[in-house]
Amino acid sequence: MIDPTCRILGTGHYAPERVVDNAELEKLVETSDDWITTRTGIKRRHIAADGEVTSDMAAAAGRRALEAAGLNAADIDMIIVGTITPDTPIPGCAVQVQQKIGAMDIPAFDIAAACAGFVYGMQIGQQFITSGAARCVLVIGVELLSRVLNWDDRTTCVLFGDGAGAVVLGPSDLEVDGDDGQRETGRAGILSCGIFTDGSLASALHIPAGGSASPLDAQKIGDRENKVHMVGNHVFRTAVKNLTSSSAQILKASGLTSAQLDWVVAHQANIRIIHQVANRLGFPLDKFVINIDEFGNTSSASIPIALDQAVRDGRIQKGQHVLMCALGAGISWGAALLRM
Ligand code: COA
Repeated sequence: MIDPTCRILGTGHYAPERVVDNAELEKLVETSDDWITTRTGIKRRHIAADGEVTSDMAAAAGRRALEAAGLNAADIDMIIVGTITPDTPIPGCAVQVQQKIGAMDIPAFDIAAACAGFVYGMQIGQQFITSGAARCVLVIGVELLSRVLNWDDRTTCVLFGDGAGAVVLGPSDLEVDGDDGQRETGRAGILSCGIFTDGSLASALHIPAGGSASPLDAQKIGDRENKVHMVGNHVFRTAVKNLTSSSAQILKASGLTSAQLDWVVAHQANIRIIHQVANRLGFPLDKFVINIDEFGNTSSASIPIALDQAVRDGRIQKGQHVLMCALGAGISWGAALLRM
């Protein structure tokens, strides 16, 4: 049995107050509640208020995760933020989070792996804990995608939402046996984790302008080249294939069988992707934590938001096995299996 070295000490999330439902989007673009619901599973999404910035949401989620862990900012050795929508291009969002939560003089940096950013951050944090270089790492997935969407493009603007989720990682020094008392006793923690990228698919989901390849000018802003562009059905097919293969690989590496899995917290991009992954893996759908109807696709925030909801409402309990898997722009993807 794998003896984990790094576990989740606490979780937290933050969702902006404003909720935009599909009916409101019907007034913006040629779409319908029926199309959005049946093609994606999304009913509504949270959208940040004017003046609210990415690091505000990230800091709120981070504080809640610290509180759940019974720790405070002075205990943190490192902050890792998965985001592609930082407050400013320079410096990174983690820098602003550090200042807002008051955790000065520790490393704080961003991971730009889009929807896979949280899983990337978790594996990086795990390495620092396992090596002994850190005892407490705050990993946050946060996205304020509403500011980089083309609100005239019905193929993208209906899909995404804003929000933040966080976990505090620390050493696996806790022995757990499930609440049912039936489970094998073992240390809580990350049993296996893997991250992957296929750069040949970079143009399937991207923001074309605003970087060194295409500096912004008035023409490009007018053409919305500074907004999200996506070949949706290409990303869909890749998501089903890669989420299935990486989940199967991580499950095998953990030494567990699918029957020992209690929960799957998959990236919430499209309910049909989740259905197809469940079907291919042979996991019952009721093992999946699903909140896409309420949040849409919040990119790197999607897994830690769903995880925190399920921990707080008691679905996910100590000793249970949870599989996470995410895929997004890059194409980058990753999966992790944890004993809670
Ligand atoms: N409302 C109404 N019609 C819409 C629409 C909307 N919001 N968005 C697209 N359509 C139309 C298209 O224009 C197209 O019309 P046409 O046949 O007349 O050309 C039709 O619906 C089908 O479009 P298609 O792109 O083939 O739909 P789809 O079934 O693949 O669903 C997505 C589109 C985007 C929902 C789906 O491809 C998807 O979820 N992709 C992956 C998203 C993802 O995972 N993204 C990021 C990873 S983090």
